[in-house]
Amino acid sequence: MSAIVQTKRVTVPEIRAHKNAKPVVCLTCYHAHTARLLDEHVDLMLVGDSLGMVMHGLENTLGVTLEMMILHGKAVVRGSKRALITVDMPFGSYEESPQVAFRNAARVIQETGCTAVKLEGGERMAETIRYLTSRGIPVMGHIGLTPQMTQVMGGFKTQGRTQAEWPAIEADAKAVADAGAFSVVLEGIAEPLAAKITLEIAIPTIGIGASAECDGQILVLEDMLGLNPNPPRFVRQYASMGPDIENAVKSYATDVRSRRFPGIENVYSMKKTG
Ligand code: KIV
Repeated sequence: MSAIVQTKRVTVPEIRAHKNAKPVVCLTCYHAHTARLLDEHVDLMLVGDSLGMVMHGLENTLGVTLEMMILHGKAVVRGSKRALITVDMPFGSYEESPQVAFRNAARVIQETGCTAVKLEGGERMAETIRYLTSRGIPVMGHIGLTPQMTQVMGGFKTQGRTQAEWPAIEADAKAVADAGAFSVVLEGIAEPLAAKITLEIAIPTIGIGASAECDGQILVLEDMLGLNPNPPRFVRQYASMGPDIENAVKSYATDVRSRRFPGIENVYSMKKTG
């Protein structure tokens, strides 16, 4: 009799339990093959709306739709077994009212099989976060530099550079935590403020361009792999896949043009003899 080995996914309480314990390892992920590669090594994969730029060549995240998020969310859930999968709520799918947010978030959870959703905004979104979490939808918050608001903010600017800005950002963090979010992304927040917020709230803070003192970190996978020719300045690159892909394609093109491409019979005989 063979035993069925089932891998259990990381849960929301398990992510919460990282607070003051072990850093939470997070990366964005948009497709099944990379989900399989990341699965063993990260605690949480975010199907971020940054997929609009990375996968679809959009200029910003504002053109991303619920359908796009669901399509990529399904692929990442299929490609993984262990990590907790969180899917971003795109611009226009949650801001109008807690009820609209619930309807769309429930659709994301039901159609993708993901565990949680992420949405941008602090105090102004607290009521919605409370509405979702009290009805069974785990929410990851996102404060500081919130890309869906860059038209209003006038671009991508680090938040909290002056101490006068700190109280409002701290109030955002507290509001998100009090409303029941299980973690919160701190994006583009001045280092001492991100560290201060991390000490002040009871849920894990996940930094991106913030502070090493956060309870976890997240990066856009393609940025850290070297696929983005213009990554944000704070991104540490762990591979140079852009140049690697170009070199591989150059070698392939040379092989094809010089007819050095193995025919199918050669492949079989190479396998037999090799
Ligand atoms: O969309 C995204 O990838 C994100 C992360 C950068 C946090 O929100």
